[in-house]
Amino acid sequence: MAMPSSATLELFSQHVVANYGRAPISIVRGQGSRVWDAEGRCYLDLLPGLGVSGLGHCPPKVVAAIQKQAAEILHIHNNYLIEPQAKLAERIVSKITGMGRAKVFFCNSGTEATECAIKLARLCGQEHGRWKIISTVRGFHGRTYGALSSTGQPKFHEGVGPLLPGFSFVPLNDLAALESAFDAETVAFQVEPIQGEGGINPCSLEYLQAARALCDKHQALLMYDEVQCGMGRSGDYFGYQTLKAPAPDVLWLAKALGGGFPIGAVVAKDGPAAALKPGTHGSTYGGNHLACAASLAVFDSIDEEGLLVHVRETGQHLGHLLQDLASAFPKKITEIRRMGLMVAIELTFPGAPVVAACRDEGLLVNVTQGNVLRLLPALTVTKGELDEGLAIIHKVLAAHEA
Ligand SMILES: Cc1ncc(COP(=O)(O)O)c(C=O)c1O
Repeated sequence: MAMPSSATLELFSQHVVANYGRAPISIVRGQGSRVWDAEGRCYLDLLPGLGVSGLGHCPPKVVAAIQKQAAEILHIHNNYLIEPQAKLAERIVSKITGMGRAKVFFCNSGTEATECAIKLARLCGQEHGRWKIISTVRGFHGRTYGALSSTGQPKFHEGVGPLLPGFSFVPLNDLAALESAFDAETVAFQVEPIQGEGGINPCSLEYLQAARALCDKHQALLMYDEVQCGMGRSGDYFGYQTLKAPAPDVLWLAKALGGGFPIGAVVAKDGPAAALKPGTHGSTYGGNHLACAASLAVFDSIDEEGLLVHVRETGQHLGHLLQDLASAFPKKITEIRRMGLMVAIELTFPGAPVVAACRDEGLLVNVTQGNVLRLLPALTVTKGELDEGLAIIHKVLAAHEA
């Protein structure tokens, strides 16, 4: 029997660091796009796991794969061969179009993947005195020092400096700014093809084409952080594919890659990947049997259940619902941005009370950048669930006194 939410809240307040803004509900069970709290109340979750539970909660193939693998071997360190790791690397590379031969390094989270990409870039550049990385304003790449230093949002930098040197930030989709940011010490340009935390801001095709050309001209690496926009969310495996943008030299994944189990991966073309020589980088847990078994089942689900097509169809349906919402509230909504099942509803006022009111009505979403409601529904979400969720948002916005 689960403890009441109030008892869990009491334990939290006494023993858990208060670095997150937590709603006072204790979620004890999940299935697909639904979760239940300790009191048995059901919620529609249109932000499952903040993009981690990409297939929804407890996806059957992933649960079965974890159970099977757990009974065989959980973990062995990376001084031995790990069959599911090799199979997963092959599977990931098979989905990355346009990159040619590539290799994969495994870690446990998005921020670790970013760290690896930064080290890889610097290792590639060291012989030629190149070490600087261009990143984007409003980009988000994680919370550890390298990833944090490469994150273009000053609020995350407050009070924790000095940061890792060598990062500069350019406004997204500003070609001239990008061009002038390159210098003889630039080793890479790092970008989310669709910014997530920054408010669901897609790169334009021209921007990424120009970025590819500039990186080639300056012998720098083009690096895509697909931690949030990858793994089917945009309607293709990767955000850059939906944008029809050129392939990068380095790409990294986490969040939905494990379907709820922690795993991160950095994919690099064979050339740059060779910079990660023995001893240059590592991870004790990275790519263990359990994580890789879970992730292989994520790929099986996406492929066998036709989820990319499903994302495009449900995404279109969601697009119509969002248009209706925008026209119903022209004074409350400034803009709606959507790529597949990645949605921003930009409000003219702070979004936190809207998130709380949605939760009271049984819907889980969140807010980013203060006034952007964010939805990252499961790839398995149904049109009916989207209707239900958007009806709640409609009701909440109608009642909200801005
Ligand atoms: C694009 C992007 N990169 C990196 C990260 C960091 O991932 P993690 O929280 O797993 O460290 C996030 C997390 O939101 C992200 O959205």
